[in-house]
Amino acid sequence: MARDLAIDLGTANTLVYAKGQGIVLNEPSVIALNQQTGDVLAMGQEAWQMIGRTPGYIVAVRPLRQGAITDFDVTQRMIRLLLERAGVSRFNRPRVVICVPSAITEVERRAVIEAARRAGAADAQLIEQPMAAALGAYLPVNEPIANMVIDVGGGTSETALISLGGVVALQAVRVGSFDIDAAIQTFIRREYGIAVGERTAEEIKVAIGSAWPVQDGVKAEVRGRDLMSGLPKTVILSPEEVREAIAEPVAAIVASVIACLGEAPPELAHDLIVRGMHLVGGGGMLKGLAKRIAEETSIPVTMVDAPLECVVLGAGRCIEHYDELRVMFMGAR
Ligand SMILES: Nc1ncnc2c1ncn2[C@@H]1O[C@H](COP(=O)(O)OP(=O)(O)OP(=O)(O)O)[C@@H](O)[C@H]1O
Ligand SMILES: [Mg+2]
Repeated sequence: MARDLAIDLGTANTLVYAKGQGIVLNEPSVIALNQQTGDVLAMGQEAWQMIGRTPGYIVAVRPLRQGAITDFDVTQRMIRLLLERAGVSRFNRPRVVICVPSAITEVERRAVIEAARRAGAADAQLIEQPMAAALGAYLPVNEPIANMVIDVGGGTSETALISLGGVVALQAVRVGSFDIDAAIQTFIRREYGIAVGERTAEEIKVAIGSAWPVQDGVKAEVRGRDLMSGLPKTVILSPEEVREAIAEPVAAIVASVIACLGEAPPELAHDLIVRGMHLVGGGGMLKGLAKRIAEETSIPVTMVDAPLECVVLGAGRCIEHYDELRVMFMGAR
């Protein structure tokens, strides 16, 4: 019998949950493409290792980088690879639940469903990422109270207010943790005249990046290539200057949370002061971000237990209790 699957195709990370098993795949959303033939050579960790170390015609790409599942071909190929890895064959077709951004268009919705069917799914249902995140965090989504989820991912940040099993208010921006990496790269280039790679910028972000003054004093030593001489050069960065460097994308994320609060009906707004907001997504793990949002909104913010897995775990609950939770699927209400 085919095992039903839940898939979170994130811009940064892809996770797959198999019924009765839990998370069976958790890898970066990267594929290695042979540009000459168009073949997908590898995905995930294996493809990631190829970045910067491959012959020119083999390129590692993050196909979902822009935050939305827009490229039908690539989406279909990725889903096919994921289903293959999960043991799906022509004779063994599972039901699949796919987590998608709430802001997805009708055309994109149909494209994802079609991609999953062609990739071998017996049936494909979609669930909105914030709804899945709320289920993954075991929030009481069916009650008439305010459940607010802030999902800061790689390419997107989505804030949703959920009540009575539906999304009541939503704000989505195409700004996420990748933009913070890019801001760090730009800063180092401009201020110190050295070039650092994406992965180095990400390491700096995780090590000393912050959205609010926290554990300052710890500095980071960064090695890059001097743009003038072309030689390796080392600089020391302080948390203060990194915070300054990433101020713009961080402010954009905070502003979208505030805009979502502005859409909340007054009755639910009161609930929020009592119940607080829930931060999910890898980008949400930026030091001081929860504190920064709490300070700017005067509403408490808590980080969920498993920020990177929360969305797929919520969709996983839906496949474990398919008939009971199918009302959570997009278009089911
Ligand atoms: N400790 C950390 N501090 C700051 N950022 C982090 C930390 N850990 C992971 N990240 C960042 O989180 C991002 C990935 O988050 P996540 O896996 O939630 O994204 P995603 O779901 O793939 O993206 P999206 O939801 O936008 O499609 C990466 O950019 C990564 O650098
Ligand atoms: Mg995500």
